[in-house]
Amino acid sequence: MSILTCPYCNTAIQPANKTTYRCENNHSFDLAKQGYLNLLPVNKKKSKDPGDNEMMILARRNFLELGFYDPLILRIKKLINEQLSFRKKAVVALDAGCGEGYYSEKALNHLHGLHTTIYGTDISKHAVKNAAKKYKNNTYFVSSIYDLPIAKRSTHLILSVFSPIMPAEFKRILSSKGYAIVVSPASNHLNEMAALIYETVKPHTTTVVENMSVEFDHVLAERCTFTIAIKNAEDLLALLKMTPYYWSTGIERLENITNKNELSVTCDFNIDIFQKKRQQ
Ligand SMILES: C[S@@+](CC[C@H](N)C(=O)[O-])C[C@H]1O[C@@H](n2cnc3c(N)ncnc32)[C@H](O)[C@@H]1O
Ligand SMILES: [Zn+2]
Repeated sequence: MSILTCPYCNTAIQPANKTTYRCENNHSFDLAKQGYLNLLPVNKKKSKDPGDNEMMILARRNFLELGFYDPLILRIKKLINEQLSFRKKAVVALDAGCGEGYYSEKALNHLHGLHTTIYGTDISKHAVKNAAKKYKNNTYFVSSIYDLPIAKRSTHLILSVFSPIMPAEFKRILSSKGYAIVVSPASNHLNEMAALIYETVKPHTTTVVENMSVEFDHVLAERCTFTIAIKNAEDLLALLKMTPYYWSTGIERLENITNKNELSVTCDFNIDIFQKKRQQ
């Protein structure tokens, strides 16, 4: 049974055949050839091609596949394995703002004693296309986290990594004892890189806990900090291209980085875990 719902009438959508999903009122959605669904109606798009573009998505893939952020993946898995408890072994998990799919595939699979059915969504068609093409066991669909085409209380685990969050929607789709894991940049994230671009580096701040606390209890806070030693210009460029710095900074300043062959960079993440408030 799919957890997906029709973006037009909110009834459940199910596969009608190999290439089409259909809702109870006969709205139909074709699977793209890469295997994903587009559940973002045109009239809900704020721009023609919302979310990260193809270059940004491929830049994330290039860097993530070098494995530099895998200590974060291991920490997320350790937290799920050791700190979270689920009522049933069959767990429905959603990667909300999944990008090109690295985290849904690596962090939500092979958890101790659990069998996860993995969904991933992003507002970027390029993100979802690349995720679906590579990670065929997971279900990827285009939608906005502000209006998720997902049935209420159908999801046991939400993972959000560096993506926008929508506490009210997360609350609606989560089961009563479900968990939302939100990863955001902690104060020193990529400091050394920022220092090469800006005269003064402002530490990252986050409002995740403040925003989520309206709907959720904050049940766990972890900081995951490690240093990565980048040893060649190509990997350094891959990291740079994954950051907003690359897309928003003038070429002269970027040359402070692109002229280098190596750099040690601090990776600094907040991992915050939430459950619905008890009285709800
Ligand atoms: C910094 S990227 C993180 C992607 C992925 N979680 C990762 O860490 O590789 C932020 C992602 O949020 C997506 N995004 C932005 N607004 C969104 C929205 N309203 N709904 C769903 N995704 C959104 C972007 O397209 C982008 O892929
Ligand atoms: Zn419908």
